Amino acid sequence: MNNEGILIIDFGSQYVQLIARRVRENKVHSTVVPPDITVEEIKRMAPKGIIFSGGPSSVYDKGAPAFDPGILKTGIPVLGICYGMQLLGKLAGGRIRKSGKREYGRTIVRLKRTDPLFKGMPARGVTWMSHCDKVERLPKGFKSVAESHDTRNAAFSEPVRGIFGVQFHPEVVHTENGKRILKNFIFDICGCKRTWNMKSFIDNKVEDLRKHISGGEVILGLSGGVDSSVSAVLLHRAIGRRLHCIFVDNGLLRKNERERVRQLFKKNIKLDLTIIDAEKEFLKALKGVEDPERKRKIIGATFIKVFEKSAKRFKNVRFLAQGTLYPDVIESRSFFGGPSKTIKSHHNVGGLPRKMGLKLVEPLKELFKDEVREVGKQLGMPDEVTQRQPFPGPGLAVRVLGAVKKEYLDILREVDWIIIDLAKKHGIYDKTWQIFGVLLPVKSVGVMGDLRTYENTAVIRAVTSVDGMTADWAKIPYDILGEMSNTIINRVEGVNRVVFDISSKPPSTIEWE
Ligand code: XMP
Repeated sequence: MNNEGILIIDFGSQYVQLIARRVRENKVHSTVVPPDITVEEIKRMAPKGIIFSGGPSSVYDKGAPAFDPGILKTGIPVLGICYGMQLLGKLAGGRIRKSGKREYGRTIVRLKRTDPLFKGMPARGVTWMSHCDKVERLPKGFKSVAESHDTRNAAFSEPVRGIFGVQFHPEVVHTENGKRILKNFIFDICGCKRTWNMKSFIDNKVEDLRKHISGGEVILGLSGGVDSSVSAVLLHRAIGRRLHCIFVDNGLLRKNERERVRQLFKKNIKLDLTIIDAEKEFLKALKGVEDPERKRKIIGATFIKVFEKSAKRFKNVRFLAQGTLYPDVIESRSFFGGPSKTIKSHHNVGGLPRKMGLKLVEPLKELFKDEVREVGKQLGMPDEVTQRQPFPGPGLAVRVLGAVKKEYLDILREVDWIIIDLAKKHGIYDKTWQIFGVLLPVKSVGVMGDLRTYENTAVIRAVTSVDGMTADWAKIPYDILGEMSNTIINRVEGVNRVVFDISSKPPSTIEWE
């Protein structure tokens, strides 16, 4: 850590990396550390400020995470968020009330006095709350700064020692002026400088990877998507040809994908890349299978089998690298700890490391998608890779409805290619979260020249979204849709009808299966 940054103590909040991201957005370095960090370690790191994150515990619970109260004597400004505020309140001598009643969601907060944390902000604002307990009695010397309908002390401060607390979450977008609050803390209160950028992230990460991997060798399943590609290039920069990449062509890929990957990674970047042609194995395993979940499971299991087999040739490998991003880490946990259900089992290689006795390396684990694209750009990767739209692990198998056949996949590859090509030409590709083709093996009657046709239906699916969790169907201009439809029907044998999907998520999902 450099001594210009903010230290974030993680009490188990879903949002801890979002706080870190907000700090990075201000070009300030941030480091997330566990609660058992000692005062001596903190002094050595010499941060300009400390943020205590939220967390699922209650401060009086047995085993609830806490911090060393000596931190409050270091003179380093601190900001406690939600649980972090309650903990601050407790350890500074106040009293917290345990309550079964939850204040949740958008909540109006009213300022009671001026305070450096709220500088330049209106007297009332919407915040995002999620808590049961609250600070009932303030510690000595603390002032109550804001209140909500249900919470007398929605924010407190002790400006002399630079201690601040907010009951709500300034890091989430639903809190109006949340970014402003964090800025006030980072710059006015802590005096941070804007010295952090993606380049320094890369330099630090490369250094960390070198140390962590030491002289070891790493293998990585390269899919050609943004996350695995950026991970590969980052690792390559750190350890060169001690990184071994394996690209599995499962026969469910888009047109020219394998060649594109070979060109870029093997020829240009000169990665040690092994390309495995496993089309036959995948199609055989999928033969006659119609159920979407079974298709996904089969693809996942076949991938592991193929990958494991081809990894055997690298005898000295001790690590498996994965392009996990922060949203992937929290994906399976729903916000605020509610139970989350599996809607679709995502294809991943989660079972691999243990099975193969490898240690995991996840160089992008704390980043969000847009940050990963920025890392890729800084590493000199072409927009073609860094600006790619998501593509599901099970590939075109979840876009050919029902039983998968090579003949259908070939048709869909052509359809999809035309859609993407025209989307790029008309500036739609960059404006949508995803745009792609789906093949319905449903035949209908058409006419071509003087001949009757009886062929399949293709779907244009286009959505806008910020994170893939919810999505709206994209309002593509009619003339572009018309051009896509005409081009597909004229050029692709096997399709005589094109339809446009106008379903949003929820209730529909983005992929059709
Ligand atoms: P759905 O269809 O669930 O998709 O609305 C949400 C986002 O996830 C992608 N997706 C997948 N990605 N493996 C992946 O790596 C999968 O099995 C998978 N299924 C869906 C989808 O493309 C969209 O961006």
